[in-house]
Amino acid sequence: MEKKRGSFSGGLGFVLAAAGSAVGLGNLWRFPYLAAQYGGGIFILVYIILALTFGFALMTTEIAIGRKTKKSPIVAYKMLSEKFSFLGYIAVFVPAIILPYYCVIGGWLLRYVMVYIQGLTAEAATDTFFGAFIGDTFSPLFFFMVFLILTALVVIGGVEKGIEKFSKVLMPILIIMIIGIAIYILCIPGTLEGVKYYLIPDFEKFSFKTVCGAMGQLFFSLSLAMGIMVTYGSYIKDEVSLVKSVNQIEIFDTTVALLAGLLVIPIVYAFSGEAGLTANGPGLMFVSLPKIFAQMGGGRIMGLVFFVLVLFTAITSSVSIMEALVSSMMDKFKVTRGRACAITLIVAIVLGVPSSMGNGAWSHIKILGMDFLTFFDYLSNSVLMPIVALCTCILVGWVIGTKTITDEVTRNGEKFGRQKIYEVMIKYVAPVLLVIILVAYSLAQFGVIKM
Ligand code: ALA
Repeated sequence: MEKKRGSFSGGLGFVLAAAGSAVGLGNLWRFPYLAAQYGGGIFILVYIILALTFGFALMTTEIAIGRKTKKSPIVAYKMLSEKFSFLGYIAVFVPAIILPYYCVIGGWLLRYVMVYIQGLTAEAATDTFFGAFIGDTFSPLFFFMVFLILTALVVIGGVEKGIEKFSKVLMPILIIMIIGIAIYILCIPGTLEGVKYYLIPDFEKFSFKTVCGAMGQLFFSLSLAMGIMVTYGSYIKDEVSLVKSVNQIEIFDTTVALLAGLLVIPIVYAFSGEAGLTANGPGLMFVSLPKIFAQMGGGRIMGLVFFVLVLFTAITSSVSIMEALVSSMMDKFKVTRGRACAITLIVAIVLGVPSSMGNGAWSHIKILGMDFLTFFDYLSNSVLMPIVALCTCILVGWVIGTKTITDEVTRNGEKFGRQKIYEVMIKYVAPVLLVIILVAYSLAQFGVIKM
């Protein structure tokens, strides 16, 4: 007999769980360093425009598909169109690739929480600390495993008792922490110059790269094109307002991303100028910030609070990434939640070990010139997610019709304010943009153009 499908208790539970999924390493680790890399304010402006148009259209689509079919991606896409069954598999392949490396980075966060608990503030600020830690074999693997198990424990709890309960407690704490740290940082002398760099767009810094960077970030940050929103959408009750939920999730995620930039960029700018912002790329959070914590009064507490905050956000997101896989297995193969979790754990370990070791003992192994973790990040964000998004737009815009989605959105008599924008985005703008981006990434990969 088929077991009753889990569901969120109501609109708030769903929004907090979905916001918990959206807000994660994407906001606190990726967004600040990309904003720094792509020229601050101009990147933010492009990101916000894309979030309000493209992000909103794709998120509405995915959540509506989930609620309409009450299934996770593999079965959901097949129900919409037999010809598009393949899309469900690619959509689930994405979280299978992301989960392992996401948990490796989650493990790094755990290590940094330990660093500040142990009072190793000065050690963490040295140039070699981060590299030596991730280059080690056992320590990162140990923290990776702990993070993965923490994630699995929440997922095993199920939709309402695990994911929803966890998100309902964590998300409000998180917001209070972010606002508290932001206020504290903005009171440090010199940070206001950094705020200006961060928020005022300099149009001379605009390029096609800015759009590509913002687009990749949008997928990752809003948990789009990776099966998650379809899965979470399948757990919403019919009476919940989709329009309101999508607006709230988007506002939540974008606000946290903007605040996350405020936590990182002004302070790095104040202490080490514009050069400090771009010196360490993805290491901005792990390399640059500890240097600053070491120079500040109360830096140990600051460091601890900051890394605990990022750790919380990362767990609510990794939970959603794992849930997309677990739920798909449960729907497709009718296995129990426990068994689906066990299989997912094995996949995560098999791919997570090379992602971790690729920074150390296995750093000589390269795929397309990249270490394992960078390759998995590239494959998911720059190749598979744009493909999933493109196929979703074609499916909805040109095969089943946007009406299937707009009918689902408005089925409780709700008004769909941005319906026209939605239709134009899904049918024309998004597919064209996605094709351009995919072609550009491919040409760049093969050295034809520079990006
Ligand atoms: N949306 C998640 C994040 O931003 C995956 O980390």
